[in-house]
Amino acid sequence: MLLNISKAHILVSFVFLLILSGAIYTYLENITIPFTFCQPCHENPESVVDEAEKRVETKHCPLDDSRRSGNLIMKAGLSYPQPSTLTGRTDVNSVTNWNAPLVWEGTFDPVVIDDIYSRMNPRVAVVVLAVGKYTRFLKGFLESGEKYFLVGLRVTYYIFTDNEQDVPNVTLSEGRKITILPVPSAKRWQDVVLSKMKWATVTIDKQIRNEADYLFMMDIDSVFHNRFGAESLSQMSAVLHRGFYKNINRDGFPYERRPESKAYIPAGEGDYYYTAAVWGGYLEDMYRLVKYCYEQSEEDAKNNIEAVWQEESHLNKYFLYNKPAKVLSPEYLWSDYDAPGSDIKLIRISQLVKDYAEVRPNGGQ
Ligand code: GAL
Ligand code: MN
Repeated sequence: MLLNISKAHILVSFVFLLILSGAIYTYLENITIPFTFCQPCHENPESVVDEAEKRVETKHCPLDDSRRSGNLIMKAGLSYPQPSTLTGRTDVNSVTNWNAPLVWEGTFDPVVIDDIYSRMNPRVAVVVLAVGKYTRFLKGFLESGEKYFLVGLRVTYYIFTDNEQDVPNVTLSEGRKITILPVPSAKRWQDVVLSKMKWATVTIDKQIRNEADYLFMMDIDSVFHNRFGAESLSQMSAVLHRGFYKNINRDGFPYERRPESKAYIPAGEGDYYYTAAVWGGYLEDMYRLVKYCYEQSEEDAKNNIEAVWQEESHLNKYFLYNKPAKVLSPEYLWSDYDAPGSDIKLIRISQLVKDYAEVRPNGGQ
């Protein structure tokens, strides 16, 4: 009898425990889900630089899911050549060692890419700075941009300038516009460059994040020459600097080498050397990185040091420890100063030759 009771007792207790743990599990599932969700985009993601780990930790902010670059939906019936698993570019590497695409002409089919991204219909912000004599570059940049840059997609050019009168009247295609943002002038080109990070941080925060899904930071002294299309879009896309993309040991990269600077990268470390003249990605990821460059250079200024290539040095440190999702070949930023080798099949955008002494408030290279 006693035995029977305790058997029944054990059974009942077991069933009770089972129900109780089920209930606790369901409850926890329900309360933890909201915390794993991203916070809304208009709230600032908190970024924390972990100096020991050299990574930047942040709360994530969502992009409208349908506009994520991983969302690769193509329409039925599209006609294009069959892709091969065996043939492709053999003269260049088209994948990084963290498995990100390294984009060159011939590594993508524009028909496929354009179909995918036109249905995604992203809003793309381009931030450029045109202060002092640099307003002269606006016309060529904007006119050529309308011919080649993300054609068919919605683009807003955010022009930071100290001279609104000098912004030219350029006819833009449908869905594309210009927003002018007044900024003060500066006396040293280094300050001009760094102030771009400050104004961009403030303006993304106040305005751009409500108007765009993707953001590109670009230098104004350049002209588009060929397609710069949606193949360039990703969560974070970095462009290989044309001057250091081949036959150079990582210790020869012009990284910041003084440990006193926040941009310091020790010898023996490094993947590539990236340019700061073109970089882009999801709005919130870009916000985090622009703000990082701003804050790290402010920190340097407090310690009376300026990184060797200003924001480019901070950018390179960031990308070393927070790998970009796509690496774009130097086709995505060439320079009229250099003749391209046979690996550069076409130049998509190129920096103009300019008289530095004449165009910059304090000269210099
Ligand atoms: C130059 C470029 C600079 C900087 C430098 C790095 O060609 O104009 O902005 O990127 O290379 O060495
Ligand atoms: Mn430049």
